[in-house]
Amino acid sequence: MFELPEDVLDIQSLARDFARNEILPGAMARDKEHAFPHEQVRKLSELGFMGMFVPAEYGGAGMSTLAYVVALEEICYADASVGVTMSVNNSLVCWPILGFGTEAQKQKYLPDLATGKHLGCYALTEPNAGSDAGAQRSKAVKNGENYLLNGNKIWITNAPYADICVGYANLDPEQRHRTVCAFILETKWPGFKVGKPEEKLGITSSATSELSFEDLEVPAENLLGREKEGFKVAMATLDGGRIGIAAQALGIAQRAFDLAVVYAKERHAFGKPIGANQAIQWMIADMATRIEAARLLTWRAAVNKDGNDKARASHMCSMAKLAASECANFCADKALQIHGGYGYSKEYEVERLYRDARITTLYEGTSEIQRLVIARNYLG
Ligand code: CAA
Repeated sequence: MFELPEDVLDIQSLARDFARNEILPGAMARDKEHAFPHEQVRKLSELGFMGMFVPAEYGGAGMSTLAYVVALEEICYADASVGVTMSVNNSLVCWPILGFGTEAQKQKYLPDLATGKHLGCYALTEPNAGSDAGAQRSKAVKNGENYLLNGNKIWITNAPYADICVGYANLDPEQRHRTVCAFILETKWPGFKVGKPEEKLGITSSATSELSFEDLEVPAENLLGREKEGFKVAMATLDGGRIGIAAQALGIAQRAFDLAVVYAKERHAFGKPIGANQAIQWMIADMATRIEAARLLTWRAAVNKDGNDKARASHMCSMAKLAASECANFCADKALQIHGGYGYSKEYEVERLYRDARITTLYEGTSEIQRLVIARNYLG
């Protein structure tokens, strides 16, 4: 598959126009002020981009994963902070509710999430359960018709503005992943506490904070998937999340590349454009090649994600995330190098891209975790 289908090309063009006209112009100011992109997220909802996989019967756009990654790349080309906000709502909140939720849960939660009335977050990571996600210490105790949750979560994207949270807690932390449960939580419930926003290196206008569950009472009807099968919900959800981060990384890489090309043609040194030098040409060639390769992997993974072979999809999503996130860091670094000292200045967009790229090899599974997932398929 080398050409995008017609309907996906239409989505790409819609996302591109919106991103370049409505998101890109304010991106540097929002980054500087650490200002959450409320207005941009509201408009994304109007375009159907906050619930892209959600079928029309639940208020969503009913699109394919391929359409989603193509749209998300365009949004992240303009601003990766807006992109991660969109990605978390789609991949980490709407998707598991759609995939594991009961009919009543889908009807109750998806329409508001898909239309932008509500924003979602995903609470898996804990102070001592990052890469080792099975080490969940947040405790769930079955209490009649309810579960009582206590514990702490960290690095939760969207948490400061979220209405709904797909969160995890463990019936018996000694049993590790075998007793983890997934829940749909409403952030307005007593006992759901949001900590102060984190100060981050990049994606500064996205909102990230700690959460705590303090005697949080959760009705049993809000269990997502079966009891003790929450880890599978978490892992299957992250497969999709990882492809979203691959798309985010591609957007950052493409923007860095485009700015580098423009600068290489405009900037003169020693009586000629710097792009006339082989040193610059090789950087441009390497960036372009890595972007094309990562994009093909990401599109391939998107098609696999909508297919029947879930193990293959998981493998490909990790490959796409690994390749695209390493590519984003490579391209942002080279774009900054091509800009010379100017690239180190906050006056130039490549400085923000360099910082924004850095998170992509960390969240939703580090590059090392992606390599572990990929290698297991060959080595067992
Ligand atoms: N789909 C469904 N089930 C899966 C699965 C998948 N992709 N991967 C594993 N499982 C199942 C396994 O089949 C196994 O089931 P059984 O017990 O029935 O055999 C179970 O889950 C445990 O699997 P593992 O033995 O592989 O578990 P592990 O403890 O070795 O951990 C891991 C595996 C891949 C390292 C996992 O812990 C992992 O992915 N870690 C990284 C966590 C991560 O990505 N965190 C990101 C946080 S979210 C975030 O960043 C969001 C944000 O704010 C932007």
